[in-house]
Amino acid sequence: MVVTRSLMGAGPQPSCMLALSFLALVLWSAPGARALDNGLSLTPTMGWLHWERFLCNVDCEAEPDSCVSEQLFMQMADLMVSDGWKDAGYQYLCIDDCWMAHTRDVKGNLQADPQRFPGGIRRLANYVHSKGLKLGIYADVGRKTCEGYPGSVGHYDADAKTFADWEVDLLKFDGCYCDSLKHLADGYKQMSLALNRTGRSIVYSCEWPLYMLPFHQPNYTEIRQYCNHWRNFGDISDSWQSVKNILDWSALHQDTIVDVAGPGGWNDPDMLVIGNFGLSWDQQVTQMALWAIMAAPLLMSNDLRHISPQAKALLQDKDVIAINQDPLGKQGYRLRKQGDIEVWERPLASLSWAVAIRNLKEIGGPSPYTMSLASLGRAVACNPACVITQLLPVKEELGFFEWISVLKTRINPTGTVLLQIKKPTLS
Ligand code: GLA
Repeated sequence: MVVTRSLMGAGPQPSCMLALSFLALVLWSAPGARALDNGLSLTPTMGWLHWERFLCNVDCEAEPDSCVSEQLFMQMADLMVSDGWKDAGYQYLCIDDCWMAHTRDVKGNLQADPQRFPGGIRRLANYVHSKGLKLGIYADVGRKTCEGYPGSVGHYDADAKTFADWEVDLLKFDGCYCDSLKHLADGYKQMSLALNRTGRSIVYSCEWPLYMLPFHQPNYTEIRQYCNHWRNFGDISDSWQSVKNILDWSALHQDTIVDVAGPGGWNDPDMLVIGNFGLSWDQQVTQMALWAIMAAPLLMSNDLRHISPQAKALLQDKDVIAINQDPLGKQGYRLRKQGDIEVWERPLASLSWAVAIRNLKEIGGPSPYTMSLASLGRAVACNPACVITQLLPVKEELGFFEWISVLKTRINPTGTVLLQIKKPTLS
């Protein structure tokens, strides 16, 4: 990538602009709606979730290495520690649908499939905890899970207690087989309260707005009071079209969803599919960069036993993870769309900003793009000057820039350039 900068003629007086824009930024940064008060997910949850890669594969005879089983999760737990995932911040190892037996036990409690989870969930939790990781599990607010296993309606308190007894640390609560919108909303709220009553710290991952959206505009202020993160959009698949659909939806609805996110409660654009089969290198860079900009939970769904060094390095990129986990906890947004280029930005702690420049083109070679730095970060990111580091697709210190300068960059088709803009340190 070639980057140059040039100074332009004298513009507006930077110092007065700086004061005004700084004030605007402080006011705009005031905390939003109250979050679920369980002290969890103060930064977006990071971990691994089995669904996109392993789906509902229950045939352990035919496919012993890729069926949903205790062995799969134990192997992933081992690798999360030995291959640096835990150190990079990926802490939650999460089970999705299809872990259950088809019926509840004689006492009416949920139970794991005895063939595939011979030690039960409690023993798996012990194993996962012994590795310094946390265990996530899956259930459904309705009569059945999406794959037809027992649902939790009528059992919210009992199921919350079961999960707490098993020492589970996260619950993904799906929304299939609900009889009404009232059932959906009441169920999500009741399970949140039931988890809270167990006294155990359990991250609560919801799909409430996703199931509500076709019928009713979700009340995000309310959802944030009950959930640590919430899915808004359909399931991700291992394809560029799917990632694009999620990004388009997120940009189109940003006026509704961005401000509601913050420490304790996040919009969840679904799993990272980096390291699988469907995305090119540039498309994987785009997913990682934009999930960082969107303050999204980073829940990978891939096979840690078979992952390329390049995908691993991208997923473990500590600078990009630091943007995702930024303590200010403000979600980024699309700043503009100009032809085939989109510019996204996210405010960070210490008056820093992250900026992602996305090339929508799917033909030809890299596109040049020249950007006025004064246009970024509500006019304060680079005011009166800044230091810019390119983080993706490769790390490169771009140096010192003045407010009235421009940044020239080139972005690969379907790819993204991710920048970090910091205030110069005073010497
Ligand atoms: C729904 C969810 C997915 C996954 C499946 C499991 O489709 O949105 O993320 O949990 O159910 O059946």
